[in-house]
Amino acid sequence: MSKPHILIFPAPAQGHITSMLNLAELLCATASFRVTFLVPAYIHRRLSQHSNAASRLSRLHPIPNDRPHEDIRPGSFDVKDWLDSFRSTALPSLRELLADDEDPIDCVISDGILSFVLEAAGEAGVPVFYMRTLSACAFWVYFCLPHLIQSQELPFDCDDLDLPMVNLRGMEGVLRRRDLPSCCRHGLDSRSMQTIMHQTVQTPRARGLILNTFDRLEAPTLDLIRTRIPNLYAVGPLHAHLRTRLTATSNSSSTTLWEEDKTCLKWLDEQPENSVVYVSFGSIVRVTAEARTEFWHGLVNSGKRFLWVVRPDSGGTEVAEGGRGRVVGWAPQEAVLAHPAVGGFVTHCGWNSTLESVAAGVPMVCWPHFGDQQVNSRFVDDVWGIGRDMKDRCDRVVVEKMVRDVMEDRSGEFRRRAGVLAKAARESVVEGGTSYYDLDRLIRDIRDLCNTA
Ligand code: UDX
Repeated sequence: MSKPHILIFPAPAQGHITSMLNLAELLCATASFRVTFLVPAYIHRRLSQHSNAASRLSRLHPIPNDRPHEDIRPGSFDVKDWLDSFRSTALPSLRELLADDEDPIDCVISDGILSFVLEAAGEAGVPVFYMRTLSACAFWVYFCLPHLIQSQELPFDCDDLDLPMVNLRGMEGVLRRRDLPSCCRHGLDSRSMQTIMHQTVQTPRARGLILNTFDRLEAPTLDLIRTRIPNLYAVGPLHAHLRTRLTATSNSSSTTLWEEDKTCLKWLDEQPENSVVYVSFGSIVRVTAEARTEFWHGLVNSGKRFLWVVRPDSGGTEVAEGGRGRVVGWAPQEAVLAHPAVGGFVTHCGWNSTLESVAAGVPMVCWPHFGDQQVNSRFVDDVWGIGRDMKDRCDRVVVEKMVRDVMEDRSGEFRRRAGVLAKAARESVVEGGTSYYDLDRLIRDIRDLCNTA
């Protein structure tokens, strides 16, 4: 029996690549599948330069690319244009790979926002699984948007964003208007809302849906999703899952597109336990000079030590380092969050960052920007009780108060709950755990498909 050959195809952004690369590595390491990972040429270059994960895959395949702008940028960024342009760049390479008789693809795992893959693979007769790189709770909200429109809860008047949602099944009394994905604030005609809704409602057309989450974190929402998409695989946290399944001979894996400044780990070694606030807003968010100033004052006034990631391309002014503060351009985030000196995480609540913090048992102060981050931050504060949600407020007084809450005043309760969830995360990815089981089930299902093809 030959090894199944899987094509894994993420949307070209760090947050999407991180989790899909972890899944790709898991499938190579545990199932001995042959994996082709398809990315644009500029990402291919950056992965080959900064990440060791590429060398573990069977093939990192570049899509020739001539786009002038490489990364997603909120603000001027239009998700529809971005997807349309990516579709036209990627389709020829995708079709070529799907038609290759010499090295046939048995199955595709596609990012669930790239519905053109469903069409192309359908024409070639190749089965497709979807993976979404967001939380189950955010996925469910996106999936329910048509229902919210039908029940006239959308669009809404932004004058009263604190009104609770009443037609969002399973989340009544949890989410307010302000906790919905940011596109909901821009009316029904918003191109991002239409695009993301159009992509999401097509999910049931795939053979199954893979999510980077774990049962004990999101069981009620996973059950809700199963009522509409029965074949659901919750295999996360993928970075922790990969670590537990790598063989003793292999080293830890990195999925980064930027060079990591590892000197901050040495600095952390010199700091007392739980004394440092780690500050990072992921790979996309741009922080205005005003917001950065408020954060700086809030952090300094809290009296806490901090390690702050200021990406060179993230806009705004420089942040001054002081005796208590350290600034880096890009950090080895997983290692930072796992460091005993780190006691809190000021985050934009991108799903990878949120899940990495959950897995490390680090409480959060959330400053969400767009998309799923609005939903995730509400769950961190109101459902999981492992941090505070700053949503829509960014001034030095709020920053100081919330940092003090997480590091000092309420640190006991946050750390206790975060510790329980971190333990649950660890247990889910070892033998007998739910994510471990779901990954094995996915591997079995892919093998069965390939054998019956
Ligand atoms: C985006 C969206 O914001 C997110 O909500 C969505 O679910 C996936 O895509 P991004 O904004 O970059 O991603 O945030 P996040 O999902 O948190 O991913 C950032 C990744 O970069 C994390 O894995 C984090 O560990 C890594 N990172 C970040 C570093 O390795 N070093 C850093 O200094 C900062």
